[in-house]
Amino acid sequence: MSRTIKIFDTTLRDGEQSPGCSMNLKEKLEMAKQLERLNVDIIEAGFAIASPGDFESVKLVANEIRDVTIASLARSTEKDITAAHEALKGAANPRLHYFLATSDIHMEYKLRMSPEEVLAQAIAMARFARNIFGEIEFSAEDASRTRPEFLYRILEGVINEGVTIVNVPDTVGYATPEEHFKFIEGIRNNVPNIDKATISVHVHNDLGLGVANTLAAIQAGAGQVECTVNGIGERAGNAALEEIVMALKTRKDIYQVETNIKTTEIYRSSRLLTKLTGVKVQPNKAIVGENAFAHEAGIHQHGMMANKETYEIMTPESIGLKETKMVLGKHSGKHAFVEKLDSLGYNNFTAEEVIEIFEQFKVLADKKKDISDKDILALVEQKQLAI
Ligand code: KIV
Ligand code: ZN
Repeated sequence: MSRTIKIFDTTLRDGEQSPGCSMNLKEKLEMAKQLERLNVDIIEAGFAIASPGDFESVKLVANEIRDVTIASLARSTEKDITAAHEALKGAANPRLHYFLATSDIHMEYKLRMSPEEVLAQAIAMARFARNIFGEIEFSAEDASRTRPEFLYRILEGVINEGVTIVNVPDTVGYATPEEHFKFIEGIRNNVPNIDKATISVHVHNDLGLGVANTLAAIQAGAGQVECTVNGIGERAGNAALEEIVMALKTRKDIYQVETNIKTTEIYRSSRLLTKLTGVKVQPNKAIVGENAFAHEAGIHQHGMMANKETYEIMTPESIGLKETKMVLGKHSGKHAFVEKLDSLGYNNFTAEEVIEIFEQFKVLADKKKDISDKDILALVEQKQLAI
């Protein structure tokens, strides 16, 4: 039996924190409904105490979305935890997600607290929260740069107080995959009560390693991963949900795990987020970029026509896209061109005529970036007039 990895979506919280990605109440609800269709396990709807707008959106999402666990972020203070509780009152399955930084640099310069004070605070807030929340997640902010022995102590301490999900963020995207694997392995081997909790990872993408680090953590035993649609998030973003999920699905031979994600909703989720935020996805972005399932090179197109697996490791249909895109351009070959003529209803040219039109097409393609059906039709009509 393979493990099922929980997908914790933080598009509406960490994702929304990135420049240009803010959404209003209505937009957040629309996105949350799509995340429900995508079948994520947890939606982090916001940071209830951050602003009245955030409070309202956590509340609205909690009231409207019934089949997914809804989480609110909170700092390690009674005031924050109480606000999260208030906002999540209507949720069918509420989760508190509270956090406290544990690395030396954060404790000294940001919190101005000693390690012993941080430990005591994290434990005290778990005790406080367990009276009002059934499910509690603790995040040791900047965990990947925290002294391991201290991290083990704090995780053991909060688990003893009823925390059942321990998240160990790579807050500044500093980790590398091999290191991240050992980091999770270290937690599994050194936190005595770790079997009572799920290990979660939350990886930022500052070195472009967000997805690779997340996958390494899964291999080391993490049971929950935090991510965002299109990888939006602070600075270079968070690990991208669609990339993690499709890597796990496509390389199941390696990872041997499942997710509950309905992958055919991936493309729609990506498009909706782009529509709501106005933040475009780069064309060559894995899985959801415009070119992710487009082929222009003649050799590739020829291979694809014979057997799609020559150049496609997953089907466009698996992410909810209708079909592979064959783009006609200067790199395309005659096979794809003939197929295009066929699809436009022109299959009665002689072999010589096809070669002539194809040559004219190549001349045009050298001058023009995008060749449309209209351009091809113009070439065809020109040829018909000349016959
Ligand atoms: O990146 C981070 O450490 C976070 C935590 C608050 C979970 O977003
Ligand atoms: Zn984060």
